Amino acid sequence: MNTTIRKPIIAGNWKMNNTVKDSEILIKNLIPLTNNKNCDIIICVPFTNLETAINLTKDTDIKVGAQNCHFENSGAFTGEISPVMLSEMGVEYVIIGHSERRQYFLETDDTINKKIKSAISHDLKVILCIGESLEEREKEITENIVSKQLKLALSNIQEIDLKNIVIAYEPIWAIGTGKTATSKQANNVCKFIRSTILKLYSEVSADNILIQYGGSMNSANASELISEKDIDGGLIGGASLKVSDFSIIINAASTPM
Ligand code: PGA
Repeated sequence: MNTTIRKPIIAGNWKMNNTVKDSEILIKNLIPLTNNKNCDIIICVPFTNLETAINLTKDTDIKVGAQNCHFENSGAFTGEISPVMLSEMGVEYVIIGHSERRQYFLETDDTINKKIKSAISHDLKVILCIGESLEEREKEITENIVSKQLKLALSNIQEIDLKNIVIAYEPIWAIGTGKTATSKQANNVCKFIRSTILKLYSEVSADNILIQYGGSMNSANASELISEKDIDGGLIGGASLKVSDFSIIINAASTPM
């Protein structure tokens, strides 16, 4: 990361894990380990844990995010949660376009674009996930895939709104598999994403936008990944469920490189 321009961001993606009781224990144990860190810290929890997370993290350095939202404000969408509902609760971030949403819930680039527009119009900050599959990497079309996802997700989004968007580069083959992209592989794609932002918007936006890496980031590899120039932190699944591991990752991002 380049700490002179960008402040790193460490976000835990709990996915469909932790009951309210579990989340209370985890958050209470995490809070004392997050004071005065040199990075932003977010936990993206299941909808059922949002209220607990928001209450417990009041006056702490932890921010709370959701893992998805609908693009409409209200209506006949059984089982969905709207951005209005999230922002009313005090949720600050929302993950949009996670590969598990794309794969299991058939989210398209068009839906993702609508969700981003809707979320930012309700003062939510977005963590936009993009990344290639193993097959796509082997075919050497990673850059085509990532730039297509990025362009479609950001279609008709104004430059001023980029300050509310964080990009998470998450190669699908590295998510939950224990296979991490090497720091060079990850940095190359993050650098490419930054250059795509330059083409779509401007050099200032490319320099300022935060680009996280996600995919089996853990306490052992975080420091090497985050020390790369174009990687501004991480979106962490499995390792965010263990306070000690998550705290090591936070410290890795918080150490001036
Ligand atoms: P992982 O998940 O760290 O468990 O690989 C990352 C993510 O899916 O956001």
